[in-house]
Amino acid sequence: MSYRTHHCGALRMEHVGTTVTLSGWVAKARLLGSMAFVDLRDRYGITQLSFNEEENPEMLKLAADLGREYVIQATGIVTERSSKNNQIPTGDIEIKVTGLTILNASDTPPFTIENESDGGDELRMQYRYLDIRRNPVRENLMLRHNLAQEIRRYLSENEFIEVETPVLIKSTPEGARDFVVPSRLNPGQWYALPQSPQTFKQLLMVAGMDRYFQIVKCFRDEDLRADRQPEFTQIDCELSFVEREDILHLFEGMTRHLFQVTKQITLDVFPRMTFADAMKYYGNDKPDIRFDMRFVELKSADVDVVSGKGFPVFDNAEAVIGIKVNGAAGYTRKQLDALTDFVKRPQIGASGMIYFRHEADGVIKSSVDKFYDAEALQVWSEAFQTGEGDLVLILAGDLNKVRKQLSELRLHVGELQGLRDRTVFAPLWVVDFPLLEWDEENARFHAMHHPFTSPLPEDRDKMKTDPASVNANAYDLVINGVEIGGGSIRIHDRELQQEMFELLGFSAEEAEAQFGFLMNAFKYGAPPHGGIALGFDRLCSMFGGSDSIRDFIAFPKNNNGRDVMIDAPSTLTAEQLQILEAGKS
Ligand code: AMO
Repeated sequence: MSYRTHHCGALRMEHVGTTVTLSGWVAKARLLGSMAFVDLRDRYGITQLSFNEEENPEMLKLAADLGREYVIQATGIVTERSSKNNQIPTGDIEIKVTGLTILNASDTPPFTIENESDGGDELRMQYRYLDIRRNPVRENLMLRHNLAQEIRRYLSENEFIEVETPVLIKSTPEGARDFVVPSRLNPGQWYALPQSPQTFKQLLMVAGMDRYFQIVKCFRDEDLRADRQPEFTQIDCELSFVEREDILHLFEGMTRHLFQVTKQITLDVFPRMTFADAMKYYGNDKPDIRFDMRFVELKSADVDVVSGKGFPVFDNAEAVIGIKVNGAAGYTRKQLDALTDFVKRPQIGASGMIYFRHEADGVIKSSVDKFYDAEALQVWSEAFQTGEGDLVLILAGDLNKVRKQLSELRLHVGELQGLRDRTVFAPLWVVDFPLLEWDEENARFHAMHHPFTSPLPEDRDKMKTDPASVNANAYDLVINGVEIGGGSIRIHDRELQQEMFELLGFSAEEAEAQFGFLMNAFKYGAPPHGGIALGFDRLCSMFGGSDSIRDFIAFPKNNNGRDVMIDAPSTLTAEQLQILEAGKS
């Protein structure tokens, strides 16, 4: 006999009168003396089992033995319920049980397996297999599955071929640290786990695969946050004979398609913003453009309407920049103090915050009235185009720091003002990143994206004369302030690639040792190519309306990089270590 005829989400009024068999977990058992009700759960839903002394005393006795999370098989007759539950799809019916088998008992679970659980984060992670029995977690994993299916379909229809690339490789420079694996057969030598399949996908282009994709695990040993896991998944893509426009068009199309089919949301054409503008107007290379609140500079390299009035904070600052909060002039002293405290927190590091309000009858009141008269404040008001009821928050200091601090403040105030609605999606492409980033500490350039990114064609000639000013042919996909993906048109020319390695401070020998395989491949007809990788976990959490990618990963690590369920990482036995060191079998 089979374990079940239906699953626990299947039965409706039309099944009344039929005999069915269900298998699942006891979500809840209510014993009411002469009656009992059991909620039977599986992946598909919940069905109520009912027991009644008059009709079947034997079954009622068996029901009394059931505990939470017991695995049972129940046979019975589908019956219309006398009191219906319109919260669940099976709420019109119940099963009058005529046969019951306990397939497996269960200890009492360490937390309740309900939509809202009483289990803390760490406990739920330790018993993640129980956590996944909860609807919200299961639904997240199903969303992930559905997105993966849709992505595979979309890319396959667009001639992409999924190719698996190796996991035991040699370090790829994506900017984070590598996880490494010792090689027993080659004592003293190590594999690195891929931070991305970057070099392999480029080699696949040399190999003529033309359009590649892979939904692939990547590994980065970096500090963890809500949107960062040490192992995460990319939708990794590479295409030959394309320009930036082709790639943006295709992946904008894919993103819009995903929103359409999974959320029934039609997105407009994605706006584009240069990196320089993103920094100038949002202080951030991944601006959240669900709301405006753009930066206005009162003092910068281009303007200065604040110096020379005897206010040292502004006089000594490289930059004075503010944001206008519409309709917030009514913020109380306490609210403003809280904002000042927010920017003064060590994580943000501002020394203070200045503000002005546009009050009734055009009166401008500032927290620095002592230095700035009505006329001066009028100039500020014009710069921000304030109207009655607006509040302006201003920070001053070193340009890069102020941008960063004000960006945090903008996001915080956006949150307070209810402008960061999770049901609204504001994607954009950020383009024209600098090719190189100057590293003060080590007095050298780093690749802002990775060393295979090509310069914008019009900047090619500045590689030798003014490398710091060269922009990259690179792009990031940002949605709601989250970097969802990034990519670039690659260097496919051996000489240019060599020049890039030189700029990055690699000697010819180092470049040969690390990337000889790629340089060699470029000798054999490398086509012009480019690509992109989207963070799949981030995409899932965006679709699921959560900030944390952990909720969308079946078995995630905690913020210390630990899997608390299997207790990894862990030590090796002396014998294992010895074998690795000695290279014996
Ligand atoms: P990049 O390093 O920008 O590009 O990575 C692409 C996307 O992967 C996601 N991501 C992460 N998600 C979760 N946890 C992490 N630790 C993590 N790190 C990155 C982000 C990011 O936008 N090879 C290039 C792509 C290319 O040029 O084609 C690359 O890996 O969403």
